Amino acid sequence: MRILVTGGAGFIGSHIVDAALARGWEVRILDSLNPAVHPGPPPRRPGAPLMVGDVGDAVTVAASLKGIDVVVHQSAKVGLGAGFFDAPDYIRENDLATAVLLAGMASAGADKLVLASSMVVYGEGAYTDSAGVPVRPDARRLEDLERGIFDPRDPATGELLLPTLVTEDAALDPRNVYAASKLAQENLASAWARSTGGTAIALRYHNVYGPRMPKNTPYAGVASLFRSALARGEAVRVFEDGGQRRSFVHVADVAEANLRAIEALVEGRVVMPGSFRAYNVGASEVQTIGQMAEVLSAVGGGPAPMVTGEFRLGDVRHITASSARAWAELGWAPRHRFEDGMREFATAPLRGDPA
Ligand SMILES: NC(=O)c1ccc[n+]([C@@H]2O[C@H](COP(=O)([O-])OP(=O)(O)OC[C@H]3O[C@@H](n4cnc5c(N)ncnc54)[C@H](O)[C@@H]3O)[C@@H](O)[C@H]2O)c1
Repeated sequence: MRILVTGGAGFIGSHIVDAALARGWEVRILDSLNPAVHPGPPPRRPGAPLMVGDVGDAVTVAASLKGIDVVVHQSAKVGLGAGFFDAPDYIRENDLATAVLLAGMASAGADKLVLASSMVVYGEGAYTDSAGVPVRPDARRLEDLERGIFDPRDPATGELLLPTLVTEDAALDPRNVYAASKLAQENLASAWARSTGGTAIALRYHNVYGPRMPKNTPYAGVASLFRSALARGEAVRVFEDGGQRRSFVHVADVAEANLRAIEALVEGRVVMPGSFRAYNVGASEVQTIGQMAEVLSAVGGGPAPMVTGEFRLGDVRHITASSARAWAELGWAPRHRFEDGMREFATAPLRGDPA
């Protein structure tokens, strides 16, 4: 098996590279080593040649695709950005670059793609009313948040809604530029598959954590921000009431999901030529942000978390994955338990730590 991992020097990409090498596969990395996310040169991975270059550059892409069976497209500008002025960057790095990559694949006859997508394509998670009927919530009301009522309401009745697991056929509602750019990547992949007869799988990662996660960047995930606060001897500040539900998933499990998707494409299972299929990749156990803060503080020997009641209007209240489709069709299920993974994460090296 010969795979190209775009963004293979990054957090998730580097774990995919390691896992693929451990399977005995041939791996090529294409990564721009974007200085905004790489404070220093990333560790070289013997056995996985690194092409330093931009996925948005057609000549580089053509060279990187030679002899490749499956493209695993991880490179992207991630996180929420500093403001709307970032929008052109997101579209260039995520959508234009993906279009260049897919056009290169079409020319090279490379017909199998695994795409890193995200739970952000859903916006809010899934909810039901008290009778178990699915309801799409309204945006949360400022007056509720100010009174410490954090769960969304039923637009028809005003009743507070109950969170449930989101499945891949839920309505899509990208709420910021990053989310819009991730959904556009999926749409491009789908259009590419239909037009070329290729096969594409999008993996919608939920909250990924683990060794080599970036620390202290504006785009770092909440787990990394909490760890950085503890390292400074500060209490972790938890927004709202800490009850925000998430599907935390260990990065090694995400790497394994990519390998399963690659195998499914190569074996011609699951996705028919000319088509595209999306899968949630999240933990089966539902956890809350408050629980994560408690485990990290306890393991790190730091002060107890501070639940502040602060809120940001656009924040998603709950989003938790049903990964049943990935289990049924790709044979993937997360293996790392939350407590064990967080214990390891509490002291694991992060990107940006002194070497
Ligand atoms: N980290 C998460 O929790 C999470 C959640 C959902 C989805 N994702 C998706 O997973 C993928 C990987 O994310 P990550 O957390 O590993 O990010 P990361 O920033 O650690 O890695 C991205 C890598 O891509 C490279 N890159 C960026 N633009 C490039 C370009 N134009 N050409 C070549 N290389 C380029 C960067 O140098 C970096 O090494 C992204 O597509 C992201 O949207 C991540």
